[in-house]
Amino acid sequence: MSRIICFGNAKGGCGKTTSTCLVSNALSQEPFNFDVTVVDSDNQKSIVKARNFDLEDFSGVLPYDVLNYNIPTLQAKIKTLDKKNDFLFIDVAGKLDIDMDVEQQEISKVLAYADFLFVPFLAGSFNLDATLDYLKFALEVQEQRANSPRPLQILGFVNRFRIRSKMNRHLMREVDEIRRMTKIPFMKNNLNDYALFAETDTVTSFFKEDASGNDQINFVIWLKEFIKITTGK
Ligand SMILES: Nc1ncnc2c1ncn2[C@@H]1O[C@H](COP(=O)(O)OP(=O)(O)OP(=O)(O)O)[C@@H](O)[C@H]1O
Ligand SMILES: [Mg+2]
Repeated sequence: MSRIICFGNAKGGCGKTTSTCLVSNALSQEPFNFDVTVVDSDNQKSIVKARNFDLEDFSGVLPYDVLNYNIPTLQAKIKTLDKKNDFLFIDVAGKLDIDMDVEQQEISKVLAYADFLFVPFLAGSFNLDATLDYLKFALEVQEQRANSPRPLQILGFVNRFRIRSKMNRHLMREVDEIRRMTKIPFMKNNLNDYALFAETDTVTSFFKEDASGNDQINFVIWLKEFIKITTGK
């Protein structure tokens, strides 16, 4: 059985796709070697495009499959995918259609399967409202699945954190507000704003036990917390 994981937020550009690739690249290779599949169900097809690019550059065996599935195809294949992987990541558009009920939203059809929803949160104007709107909706899905054998766990984390930013006090207040209003837990560790992360492809793992650069150290610490949350180990 897989752990089925989505990174989601209605706020565009908060790092859903980047986080999906960072984590998939690392978990599918040494020292973890998990069976990973990534389904790209977002119309932007960011991961499919990145993988096509990588196919030209890398001659070796790619560490995981990237599947270009729309929602109906995902629905048809989900059982098989769930059986054959350790981790299944689904990249899906975060935008909510304000005229639709929770059940009709595209993202609901994906969150119906997810074991974990990680919500990247960015410092900056207009992010709080978009995140709260999204969480309100995600909490409804969570509520609907509360008594199912596989309930949905929702966690936030701060992405693109800047260590010496003047915004940080404000950011921490916003995180507190999200936690107070939604009761969702946040990861203890942030993913920082590093050029290395912006350069991620669909192949290269940034996990190294003996990492020395600040960027890799940040990723190792953050990923270890991610693994602890999703596997209990
Ligand atoms: N931790 C990070 N450090 C540096 N750059 C980052 C980080 N996270 C995301 N980015 C950059 O921010 C931009 C948006 O990220 P990404 O495409 O992953 O967001 P998204 O939530 O998937 O966006 P969309 O809503 O368009 O799907 C990209 O240019 C990416 O490289
Ligand atoms: Mg994206």
